Amino acid sequence: MKLKKLAALAAAAVLSVSMFAGCGGGQSTSTSGSQSSSTSGKKKVIGFAQVGAESGWRTAETASIKEIPKLDPNFELKFSDGQQKQENQIKAIRSFIAQKVDIIALDPVVENGWDTVLKEAKDNKIPVIIVDRNVKVADESLITAFLGSDMEEEGKRAAKIIIDKFGKDAKLNIAELQGTVGSTAMVGRKKGFDETIKDCPNYKIIKSQTGDFTRAKGKEVMEAFLKSDGDKINVLWSHNDDMAVGAIQAIEEYGKKPGKDIFIVSVDGIKDMFQLMADGKSNGIVECNPLLGPQLLDISKQVLSGNLKDKNVKSKEGVFTQDQAKAELPNRKY
Ligand code: AHR
Repeated sequence: MKLKKLAALAAAAVLSVSMFAGCGGGQSTSTSGSQSSSTSGKKKVIGFAQVGAESGWRTAETASIKEIPKLDPNFELKFSDGQQKQENQIKAIRSFIAQKVDIIALDPVVENGWDTVLKEAKDNKIPVIIVDRNVKVADESLITAFLGSDMEEEGKRAAKIIIDKFGKDAKLNIAELQGTVGSTAMVGRKKGFDETIKDCPNYKIIKSQTGDFTRAKGKEVMEAFLKSDGDKINVLWSHNDDMAVGAIQAIEEYGKKPGKDIFIVSVDGIKDMFQLMADGKSNGIVECNPLLGPQLLDISKQVLSGNLKDKNVKSKEGVFTQDQAKAELPNRKY
């Protein structure tokens, strides 16, 4: 009895430490749904270590995953915002382990550096589901399941939009806005795009820099690209919509017409980007689905019942061009 009380007190202390860290610039945590199963023994608890809130896509993913307790009241969600820092996400995972959650869901900011903390989860018999971006670990048994997009395929699709428009023999100077360095979304999209344009001898990536998946940095980096090579760039390839939205502002301020003087392709499919494409300011969107809550719930149930159907679940996603934007806009859910 004494021991049980001590364990509950320790878990509460860990939670309040991580909440305090949130106020001081570390990760912030919150809980949706009522009392924790770790103390009440009733609900199943998912601890979700989110990347941050860097983009419209990310906001939509957070909202979708926070729906889990509404979709199934037998589940509770503990949420931690890592503010784009791996060390915050590692702290959150350790806090979830201390709180004895039933499942840890991790959307990792970068791919490497997870072996130790995920081994701690495994040693504590807590299954780990990787969501959206992936991890690279030496021991694959640290991961129970993966749910997310094929980022390499997204990069390939982005390149195909450009090839379909200009043909393989065109002479193009491409500016690339990369996502967060070391993230699957950046590494995979870049790889898929670069491999696909290998067949196009005169496609040149003349500028390439990270904008960290944010509007503000996308604008800032595009301003620098335009300052040095504004008259050479014909194509902008942006690893996400938010950076492209920032870049479109930079292009307009520079005095060029986005979508006309510079052909623009980006990944995600947020409403803002569809609106810009409907307005003729962008040319192609490769969809990346952030509405992962229902699938995460489903996989969690499978894991907890010992009945996992598929260790790797890939999202189904489309490709949209400017002529489809107006019709698709009312259908967008994020
Ligand atoms: O990991 C998914 C990517 O991360 C999205 O494309 C981007 O918008 C987000 O920040």
